[in-house]
Amino acid sequence: MFATVAQLGPHAGREVTLRGWLYNLRSKGRIHFLLLRDGTGTCQCVVFAGDVTPEVFDTAGRLDQECSLEVTGQVREDARSPGGFELQVTALQVLGASADYPITKKEHGTDFLLRNRHLWVRSRLQHALLRIRAEVIAASQEWLNAQGFVRFDTPILTPCSAEGTTNLFSTSYFDLGPAYLAQTGQLYVEAGMMAFGKVYCFGPTFRAEKSKTRRHLTEFWMIEPEMAFADHEENLRVQESFLSAVVARVLDRRKEDLLTLSRDTAALERVTPPFPRITYDRAIELLNEHATELTDAMPPRWGEDLGAPHEVLLSRLHDKPLFVTHYPAAIKAFYMQPEPSRPEVARCADLLAPDGYGEVIGGSERIHDADLLERRIREHGLRVEDYGWYLDLRRYGTVIHSGFGMGIERAVAWIAGVHHIRETIPFPRMLDKIYP
Ligand code: 4AD
Ligand code: MG
Repeated sequence: MFATVAQLGPHAGREVTLRGWLYNLRSKGRIHFLLLRDGTGTCQCVVFAGDVTPEVFDTAGRLDQECSLEVTGQVREDARSPGGFELQVTALQVLGASADYPITKKEHGTDFLLRNRHLWVRSRLQHALLRIRAEVIAASQEWLNAQGFVRFDTPILTPCSAEGTTNLFSTSYFDLGPAYLAQTGQLYVEAGMMAFGKVYCFGPTFRAEKSKTRRHLTEFWMIEPEMAFADHEENLRVQESFLSAVVARVLDRRKEDLLTLSRDTAALERVTPPFPRITYDRAIELLNEHATELTDAMPPRWGEDLGAPHEVLLSRLHDKPLFVTHYPAAIKAFYMQPEPSRPEVARCADLLAPDGYGEVIGGSERIHDADLLERRIREHGLRVEDYGWYLDLRRYGTVIHSGFGMGIERAVAWIAGVHHIRETIPFPRMLDKIYP
């Protein structure tokens, strides 16, 4: 009878067969200890010389790291074993050999590990991290579904830009000219919002970022909710509830993985609504007041964007995720609604994660007036005819609406407490990396 490591409990005292890969082998006289992982967990399988034939005992002692195998034995409760159970082996069969597995117990450099990413994902820390990623994605979607949002899929091949023209990946689209890989699903999800009220899209997004930082990928996954009749304030309330729910679920279901990664979970327990809010103006003031703590940057002047060191410092001054609202409209996307009493700033917010992880969510109220939107498109040097359909949304039953986008990798890096976002996605794409 086949069993999985996670489901050994009900089989205690009985014989089962596990299928998996050899994580580690240790021998002591007439005993071999095999650590077998099957994706659901790791189980110690004990081979006593007296329990098996000499051939099987000999085979067990020469198993290569990461060979695949079937191991049959008695399930025994054992508090010292990783999952609380171990297997007393009666038979084993190698399914696939694994001579000279490249990732060994010695320290490897990150470049080496990234070149072997297809194998690295089997390692303990990577495994924990990618499980947390899967949980963040599931939690995000399930929370939105439960709140009445409808998933609305948006295209990846698009005819025009949405988040600036400097970082577009382009390809040629038959006789129709250039096409661009989507930087966001937002413009399309706005069409869905007017059909369904509350929608979200979730998928890969692309930015030809020339920056080599620990927060930038060229391909990343984004979840983007969009809500009819929601203004800027409502948008912030939804974001803090959403992110708090996602963090709470990871704490609830993936505590063990967080501990494997040595994440300080007390910091995550504090992630509850409401989140502190400051305006961009106040952020500039704070950065000037704390200028001496900015070791490798100057405080920005009003009108300049906040850089990584600025975001790090602002988030250090708060112990929860921090909303920075009302950025100068000139440094933000063309579709953001200006503040009526002060049109030089936009009704937008970046949500900065604690501990210097930077912006995890970007969101805004959208311009709902067709004429204003058309003006902004021109001011940004974009061609109005490319955005005809997007302007139509304002011509046929426009409403106040808002939305936001959370980058999955940034969120996972922060929640899991890993330094660089390249480890939070199975196969990272960066300026200088596309293999494997
Ligand atoms: O702030 P951004 O550019 O916002 C948008 O794309 C909006 N259309 C979202 C919306 O309102 N629907 O990106 C949103 C988030 C960022 O906060 C960040 O988490 C992530 O996407 N992000 C990146 N993650 C990894 N690598 C990059 N190069 C990223 N650029 C943005
Ligand atoms: Mg942003």
